[in-house]
Amino acid sequence: MPFMRGLRIVGGNRLSGTIAAHGAKNAVLPILAATVLCSRSEIKNCPDLSDVAVSCHILRHLGFAVERAGDTLTVTREDTGCRDVPPEWMRAMRSSILFLGGMLARCGSVTLCPPGGCALGGRPIDLHLSALRQMGAVITEEGDTLRCTAPGGLHGAAVRLPYPSVGATENLLIAAAGTPAETKITGAAAEPEITDLMAYLRACGALIESRPDGAILVQGREALTGCCHTILPDRIEAATYLAAAAITGGKVTVYASPEHLAAPLAALRRMGCRITTGEQSITLIAPERLQGAGNIVTLPYPGFPTDLQAIFMALAAAAEGYTAFTETVFPRRWAHVEELRRLGADITVAGSHAVIRGAPLIGSALTCTDLRAGAAVVLAALAARGESTVTAISHIERGYADFVPTLRHLGADICLTEV
Ligand code: UD1
Repeated sequence: MPFMRGLRIVGGNRLSGTIAAHGAKNAVLPILAATVLCSRSEIKNCPDLSDVAVSCHILRHLGFAVERAGDTLTVTREDTGCRDVPPEWMRAMRSSILFLGGMLARCGSVTLCPPGGCALGGRPIDLHLSALRQMGAVITEEGDTLRCTAPGGLHGAAVRLPYPSVGATENLLIAAAGTPAETKITGAAAEPEITDLMAYLRACGALIESRPDGAILVQGREALTGCCHTILPDRIEAATYLAAAAITGGKVTVYASPEHLAAPLAALRRMGCRITTGEQSITLIAPERLQGAGNIVTLPYPGFPTDLQAIFMALAAAAEGYTAFTETVFPRRWAHVEELRRLGADITVAGSHAVIRGAPLIGSALTCTDLRAGAAVVLAALAARGESTVTAISHIERGYADFVPTLRHLGADICLTEV
């Protein structure tokens, strides 16, 4: 059997130092999908992630020239007339489905299959499809193929999302921005990455108003110009490195927006961490021993993010006392539990609830089951006594640029290896 790339980690080092968060994965992916509406876009602060590379492959297939210079991606329409997204790119990540809204608005048709992405329990796309159908899309499902057309073009609509789905809100915003009519969205998600997408679409020429009651009004245009846009810092990546400092008894400063991390920072304070913030910086000083966080309930923004549930479970596993999680966004997002148990974590799961009692962690052979679960097992291994190995690290590379060098810069004993 061939060797696979993995990680070797020796736990026990306290992490300390200063780092800047990269551009946010969950902002750059919808914005790259939205570039199909435009003639030329320059996107700055693009992290070098495998999911970003997949978006570039899809754009090239759809007839766009994509060039990277440092952390800037330039996307220019050349138009070869392709109206399909190949299944291998669709299945490589969840965000591939965000090309649907833009292609329907821009070209009036696209053929694709359901998207892939982290296995977090069921991840249907019914809300995306229903929202676009309300704008006039005709979508037929033939086996695994979705044939999507907009005979006569999409039209404006008043769409109420029954749940504030991040992806459905983004698909709808992109479709509405490329449709010369007014669309009203209620029940939309409010994540900072959605605000960033709206900023990009506005700069490209769409009129978008966010009402105080949460409603979004979009006056789209048939042809958007494109613009130069800088991706906001990744709040989940920033919180991951703060958590790495917390779990190892260290001190780390991260350049990212504290405003976007209010709920996770509150949980870290409950665990005994001292946190000071500037306008765009967060410094965490860990206590000698972390305390349990009490109750953590994942919710749509501004609630506690589901993407940090696994990472905070690693902290809870190493803390003194108990932490209880209720996962309301992806109620079966527990794949990391089995891996954390290999290190000695004491975790009980019942339905969408999990209770963790702190226990000594001891190095073990671990695997990444999805992106955030992978980051969580690495953090737990950094705090565990002795050596751990971690396999299937391609999951981590989907969402963390320079993960190993960054942890090494902060003082971790971690290296890439063959396992
Ligand atoms: C996005 C993020 C992901 C994050 C999640 C929740 C990206 C690329 N991914 O994923 O990192 O964990 O938001 O903050 O930005 N749902 C349906 N039908 C749909 C769509 C969603 O039932 O059509 C359900 C999902 O199964 C899930 C919940 O709604 O239970 C939230 O999903 P959603 O907000 O859409 O997450 P994603 O956009 O997939």
